[in-house]
Amino acid sequence: MRTISPTEYDITADARLDKRRLPRHIAIIMDGNGRWAQARGKHRVEGHEAGARSVRAVIEGCRELGIPALSLYAFSTENWKRSKLEVNALFRLLSKYIQQEIDELDANNVRVRMIGDKAGLPQRTLRDLEYCLERTHENTALHLNIAINYGGRAEIVDATRRIAADLHAGRIAEGEITESLFARYLYNPEWPEVDLLIRTSGEMRVSNFMLWQISYAEIVVPETLWPDFGKEALCDAILSYQQRDRRFGGRT
Ligand code: IPE
Ligand code: IPE
Ligand code: MG
Repeated sequence: MRTISPTEYDITADARLDKRRLPRHIAIIMDGNGRWAQARGKHRVEGHEAGARSVRAVIEGCRELGIPALSLYAFSTENWKRSKLEVNALFRLLSKYIQQEIDELDANNVRVRMIGDKAGLPQRTLRDLEYCLERTHENTALHLNIAINYGGRAEIVDATRRIAADLHAGRIAEGEITESLFARYLYNPEWPEVDLLIRTSGEMRVSNFMLWQISYAEIVVPETLWPDFGKEALCDAILSYQQRDRRFGGRT
C-alpha cells in the first residue's frame, strides 16, 4: 500500500502528463469510505472523515493543473436510505468541511456551485452552503460543483418540467426543443460536458450521477478507496484518460 498522503505529490512536475490535453471537466463519484473504515475496524463515519482529505487533494490538484471544472458527488438522492446516524454525520461533516476550507477556497479563486435538491437538506448545511456559494461566486480559477441530494434522473425530470412550463406559457415552441436547448435547462447549463468520470473503489456503475453530462465521458475506475485517493491517483486517472482514443462515434 502506498504511504504517500493524498495531498503530498507534485502533480505539475509529472512529466508524463500532456498539459495541452487535460480534461476540461472532471467528475468524481467518491466511493469506498465505508470499506476503508471497515478494513481498519473503524466506524463508517470515520471513513467519511478521512475522505475529506482527499477532497482537499483533488481540488488542489485540479487547481494546480488549471483544470477549469470539477464535479464531486457528495450525497445522492438514494443516500437517504442510510441510517439516520450516518446521514446526519455526512451533513455535519459537509458543514465542517465548508467552514474549514472556505477561506482557502476563496483565496485560491475557487468558485463553489451546488447541484441537487436543496429541499430536505438540514438548515445548518443549507446556511453554510449558501454562504460559501455567495462568498465565492465571483471567483474564476476552478469551478467546483458539489452534488448534494443529487440525482441524474431528477435533474432530467426537473429540466423537462421547466421546458413544459415554458412551452405552455408560449416562451418556446415545440420545434425549438433540441439537445442544446435541453442542456440549457439543466442545473449548471453553462458547464462543459464531463470529459473524465472517475469512480473510486472499483465499482463499475454510475449510480445516477450526471447522466446527461457523462454521455461521452471517458470512465476510469481505480481500485483505490476514496480516503486513499490523492493527487498522485488523480494524475494516474488523467494519464489513463490521455491514453484513450476519443472517437465520439466517428472513425479514426
Ligand atoms: C462514499 O462512500 C460516500 C458516500 C456515498 C457519501 P460509501 O459510504 O459509499 O463507502 P462504501 O461504498 O460503503 O465503501
Ligand atoms: C454513490 O455512491 C453516491 C456518492 C458517492 C455520493 P454509493 O455508494 O451511494 O452508490 P451505490 O449504492 O454503491 O450504487
Ligand atoms: Mg459506496
